Amino acid sequence: MTHDITVIGSNMMELSTDIDRMPKLGETVAAPDFHMAFGGKGANQAYAASQLGSNVAMISKVGSDMLGREYLKHFKESGIDVAGVSVGKKSNGVAPCFIQGNMNSIIIVQGANSELTPDVLEDYRDIIKNSKLIVLQQEISLETDYRAIEMAHEYGVPVMLNPAPANDHIDIQHVAMCEFYSPNETELGRLTKMPIDTIDQIKAAAHKLVDLGVKNVIVTIGSRGALWVSKDHEELIPSYKVDAVDSIGAGDSFVGAFSHYYTQGEDISTALKHANAYAAVTVTRAGSQTSYPTAKELPALQRKLGIDVTDELVGA
Ligand code: RIB
Repeated sequence: MTHDITVIGSNMMELSTDIDRMPKLGETVAAPDFHMAFGGKGANQAYAASQLGSNVAMISKVGSDMLGREYLKHFKESGIDVAGVSVGKKSNGVAPCFIQGNMNSIIIVQGANSELTPDVLEDYRDIIKNSKLIVLQQEISLETDYRAIEMAHEYGVPVMLNPAPANDHIDIQHVAMCEFYSPNETELGRLTKMPIDTIDQIKAAAHKLVDLGVKNVIVTIGSRGALWVSKDHEELIPSYKVDAVDSIGAGDSFVGAFSHYYTQGEDISTALKHANAYAAVTVTRAGSQTSYPTAKELPALQRKLGIDVTDELVGA
C-alpha cells in the first residue's frame, strides 16, 4: 500500500492545566481548569495532513496503559494508517502543559516514544519505501531519525525534517540528506551557530545548510512568515494576520499542511502559502489537534478571518 505521507515520530497525551500562577517548589496551588487532548509533534503533523485529505501512515509507539489505548483508537478514528504503530512497554508519552493567559510552559515525558528505536523501523521498511514523503521531528531519539533518513535515502523518498524541539547534538551530515529542513529561526541559529537577528542573517544561515546539501530550507519566522531558501531561490512567504488565541501546535499544523499540499502536487511556493493560511486558522482556535480544521471546513473559516487564498486549494 502506498501513502502520500508517512510521519515517523511522537504521540503525546496533552495534560493541559489553566493556571493563575505556577506553584513555587514545595508549594501546592489550586488551578481553575484541566483538560486532556491528543498531541505530540509527530501525531499533530500526521493529523493535520489527514484532516486535509492526505493518505497518511504513522510510525509511532503508544503506551501499554489506558492513554496508549485511547491514542491508538484516536489514530484509527482519524483515518491514519496504524500498521506502523505498535504498543510499547512503558506508559504513553505525556505533555503536562501549564497555560497562563496566552503563555504556556510544557514538560515532555517521552514514555513509550523512547521505545521507537532505530531497529523498530526495520519492521516498516515497506511503509517507508512506498511513501511520497517522510516527515520527521525531534521528539523521538535522533538515532531513529538518522535511520529513517538513511532508509528513505536508500529508496529515493524525500524527507522533511522539522527540528523541534531543538537539539544541539544533531548530526549535520544527516540534515544535509533532507529534501526539506524546516526550523524556526532559533533552531536555525543553534544548528548553524550563526546570528539570526535580521532576515539577511537568516538567509545567510539557511544558505549555509543549502551549501552542505539540504535542498530546501524553510525557516518559520513567526508573524513574519516563512522563508524558503534553496540553491537558486529565496522567497519570503508572508503569514496572515489574525487574532491568535492559542499557538500550541501551530508549527505542527504548518508542517502537516505543507506536506499535504506539496504531496498533492503543488509547487513549493504555493504549498507554503496554503500551509501559512492553514496555520493561521489554527491559532484562532483552542488546543493543537482540536484546532485543525478539515479541508471541507477550511474555506468558510478562512473567509471569516479575511484570509484570501486566491490559488485554488488542493483537496478543498
Ligand atoms: O508542538 C506542540 C506539541 O508539543 C504539543 O502537542 C505537545 O504535546 C508537545 O509535544
